[in-house]
Amino acid sequence: MRMRKKKHGAERIAACADLLIPSPPEKDIREYFTEDRPLCLEIGCGKGGFACGLTSAERDINLVAVEKYSDAACLALEKAKASKDCRPDNLRFMIADASALGEYFPEHSVSCIYLNFSDPWPKSGYYKRRLTYASFLEIYRKLLVPGGILKQKTDNEGLFEFSLEQFAAAGLDTFMTTRDLHSSPYAENNIVTEYEAQFSAKGMPIYSAWVRF
Ligand SMILES: C[S@@+](CC[C@H](N)C(=O)[O-])C[C@H]1O[C@@H](n2cnc3c(N)ncnc32)[C@H](O)[C@@H]1O
Repeated sequence: MRMRKKKHGAERIAACADLLIPSPPEKDIREYFTEDRPLCLEIGCGKGGFACGLTSAERDINLVAVEKYSDAACLALEKAKASKDCRPDNLRFMIADASALGEYFPEHSVSCIYLNFSDPWPKSGYYKRRLTYASFLEIYRKLLVPGGILKQKTDNEGLFEFSLEQFAAAGLDTFMTTRDLHSSPYAENNIVTEYEAQFSAKGMPIYSAWVRF
C-alpha cells in the first residue's frame, strides 16, 4: 500500500510502541501478548481494519498483523490505539516483509494465516512476488502448526486462479473455495477489509479460499 509519506511518521509510530513488535523481535513473539492464545498472522494488513475487526470479534486468539510499509502501519497502529471496540490486548503489529517471517516466528507456532487482498503482481515476470507463490507457501508451512490454515481473499481472479494452482502443486488441501464470498454462506462471519469494502461497493465479486497445511 504505497501512500503519501506520513508527517511525523516515526514519532506517531513511537507513540504506539506498546502495540508494535520490533523486527526482528527481541524475544519469542508469543511473549509480546499478555495471555497465551492460539497465534494468528495477517500478512499485508494495510490500514488495519481487518485486524481490529477480527481481534474484537474473536477474543480467544492473538493476532500479529504484519505490514511492510511503515506509512500504512502507522495508520493501522493509530486505528487500533484509538478504537473503542478494538481492545488490543490480543493484537500486535509488526513492520516487516513477508519474506522475513520464517526468521521471526518460532516454527509451527501459528494456527491461521490471513492474506487479504494481497498485491496481484499481474506482470508475468513478477509472479514470484505473489504471496501465494511456492516459496511463500514454504515459509507458511514452517510457521503453521500441522493442520494450520491459510485464509485468502482477493478481488483479483488471476491471482486467485494462480493461488489455487500453487496450493495444489504444493499438495495442500484447499477445503473451501468461493468465487462470490458475499453471496456465500461464509458471508455471515466475514470481516470486511478496507479494500474489500471498496471493491464490493463497485459490485465486484470477492474470491476466497481456505487451505489446510
Ligand atoms: C492491496 S493492499 C490490501 C490491504 C488490506 N489487507 C486490505 O484488504 O484492505 C496490500 C497490502 O499488503 C502489503 N504488502 C504487500 N506485500 C507485502 C509483503 N511482502 N510483506 C508485507 N506486507 C506486504 C502492502 O504494503 C499493502 O498494504
